[in-house]
Amino acid sequence: MRKFIVAGNWKMNTTVPQGVELAKAVAEKSKSLPANVKLIVAPPFTHLVSVALELKGSDVALSAQNCADKEKGAYTGEVAADMLASAGCTYTILGHSERRQYYGETDAKLVEKVKLALANALDVILCVGENLKEREDGKHFEVVTEQIKNVLYNFTEEDMAHVVIAYEPVWAIGTGKTATAEQAEEIHACIRGVIEQKFGKKVAEDTTILYGGSCKPSNAKELFAQPDIDGGLIGGAALKADDFIAIAQSF
Ligand code: 13P
Repeated sequence: MRKFIVAGNWKMNTTVPQGVELAKAVAEKSKSLPANVKLIVAPPFTHLVSVALELKGSDVALSAQNCADKEKGAYTGEVAADMLASAGCTYTILGHSERRQYYGETDAKLVEKVKLALANALDVILCVGENLKEREDGKHFEVVTEQIKNVLYNFTEEDMAHVVIAYEPVWAIGTGKTATAEQAEEIHACIRGVIEQKFGKKVAEDTTILYGGSCKPSNAKELFAQPDIDGGLIGGAALKADDFIAIAQSF
């Protein structure tokens, strides 16, 4: 069964005490949500253990924003998948456009990261999306299709039960410019088709595909009403518990 998910990517925001407060408010307010909507928060690495303690007893899941492409060893500054699992994470975001753009994340590296995440019982939120130039050149379907194939076609049907896809058009991230519900839906439908080509109809139907990019309480309802949009990966609006919960109430 496809899950409906609203995930908050806090990016490089909040101190540890601020993050713990935010997690506490999210956990408290999440009690008002219907049982079929899953909430996930993705704080910075430094916050994970404290936030995990705060979320204990709630249904809010904990995610990292990235993990290393190596198992362990002399990789200064990196954080391994098993460390994230031992800190209380059950998800990790991978391939965010900010990582691709600023930190040289490639599809080849992402294959290694997804392998390690899955091997350590972390579900993956894999981000894909075209930049402004690619959209203006009419290449958005092609770019997203390639990103999906390059990474996910290396995995199995069973693995896909632990993968969520997030479509985040780079031009809509933090810009206040949201893709229209139609623009988002046509890419989501395309992504589902690419999954179906390799893994079949059942896996495609069961895969959760999130939209991300200036998603907020005022536009979430229209986006989530689309047949292939199963929730959101939220940046800025996830830093306010009320807005984050209001987005989740849009289903
Ligand atoms: P904004 O919601 O701030 O546009 O960020 C979206 C995003 O990048 C979530 O991962």
